[in-house]
Amino acid sequence: MKVLVTGGAGYIGSHTVVELLQAGHDVVVVDSLVNGHAEAIERVQDLTGRPVDLEVGDIRDRPFLDRVFAAHTPSAVVHFAGLKAVGESVENPLAYYDVSVGGSRVLLEAMDAAGCHKIIFSSSATVYGEPQYLPYDEQHPTNPVNPYGRTKMMVEQILGDWCAADPACRAISLRYFNPVGAHPSGRIGEDPQGIPNNLMPYIAQVAVGQRPALQIFEDDYEARDGTGERDYVHVVDLAKAHVAAIEALEKHAGHQVVNVGRGQGVTVLELVAAFEQASDTDIARLIAPRRAGDLPSFYANASQAKALVGWQAELGIAEMCRDTWNWQCRNPAGFGASQ
Ligand code: NAD
Ligand code: UD1
Repeated sequence: MKVLVTGGAGYIGSHTVVELLQAGHDVVVVDSLVNGHAEAIERVQDLTGRPVDLEVGDIRDRPFLDRVFAAHTPSAVVHFAGLKAVGESVENPLAYYDVSVGGSRVLLEAMDAAGCHKIIFSSSATVYGEPQYLPYDEQHPTNPVNPYGRTKMMVEQILGDWCAADPACRAISLRYFNPVGAHPSGRIGEDPQGIPNNLMPYIAQVAVGQRPALQIFEDDYEARDGTGERDYVHVVDLAKAHVAAIEALEKHAGHQVVNVGRGQGVTVLELVAAFEQASDTDIARLIAPRRAGDLPSFYANASQAKALVGWQAELGIAEMCRDTWNWQCRNPAGFGASQ
């Protein structure tokens, strides 16, 4: 199958392009490179020995998308392109609605015009908001608490309406829990701009000596060891979930939502300990005040992914830490410096 991957030069997108190519699909990437790297696509081609067409442009640019669809005639789309920083979405919500909601609408219009009816969308567990019960299953009410989360919920709703209007249209929204890790080759991985917001890249930068200490936001929650608990999923497992989801579109009509997690909570202290073991380093840490908007604990009921998509996670915390460390050591300046 020829698959168009929006945001394919980014973190999760580049790993998914590898898995799509290795599963025998052909890939064209659309990316504005606002947060992605052409170098990532170069390395994906090296890793797989397969060519990838990179079309640099913006998903909000309809004439550009029309040209790409006409030139490549993809039969499915995997849609990663969007903005993803929660804090920035609170400060500049209109940019988020423009790129993530407006961009998705333009993409669907271009798909309609080209007769392309299948899409996998990058959604997020953040659509659930404050847990009414755990683990979250797909029936849990959605109540996102920031503009970023609301853009994800809105695009899911648009996909539901798009599928309802035309029985040929099929969509799966994958609700990611906490993607971490890197390709085991150490050639592609997460390259955050500036100070990382998320825990795993921050730990990696402390381990490699780029930052003095990890700040642990709160160690006095009620559950477990008092630190925040999340459902971390290896980015290669997550990438494989997209390949499985594309194949599942053949069997399932309409719009489906599917959690992508391991179904296991891991605390900040547990992740730090696993990273220390994988990297044979000590991670300096200090206790800091709770981060605004943080939830103490959440994790997935991942049974729907197995039943509907035929996917389940295979890699554990040790592999996530090992591969993050390998990527960090080999690319201390991210894609900015070669290995
Ligand atoms: P990323 O920033 O590395 O990748 C996004 C890619 O989209 C980048 O390469 C960027 O250049 C591109 N892009 C952004 N705006 C664009 C536009 N208007 N037109 C064309 N390309 C554009 O992010 P990621 O971590 O790989 O996330 C991919 C998707 O998964 C995002 O939609 C994100 O919201 C979602 N998601 C990510 C996480 C996470 O923790 N990383 C969790 C849940 C959901
Ligand atoms: C964040 C996003 C969420 C997104 C998810 C994807 C916020 C508020 N939420 O969530 O929308 O879907 O990433 O990966 O940004 N922690 C520290 N010190 C740090 C960084 C994090 O102690 O320097 C703690 C946090 O308090 C939390 C845990 O580590 O308990 C995980 O944090 P993070 O990696 O930012 O993920 P989320 O909070 O789940």
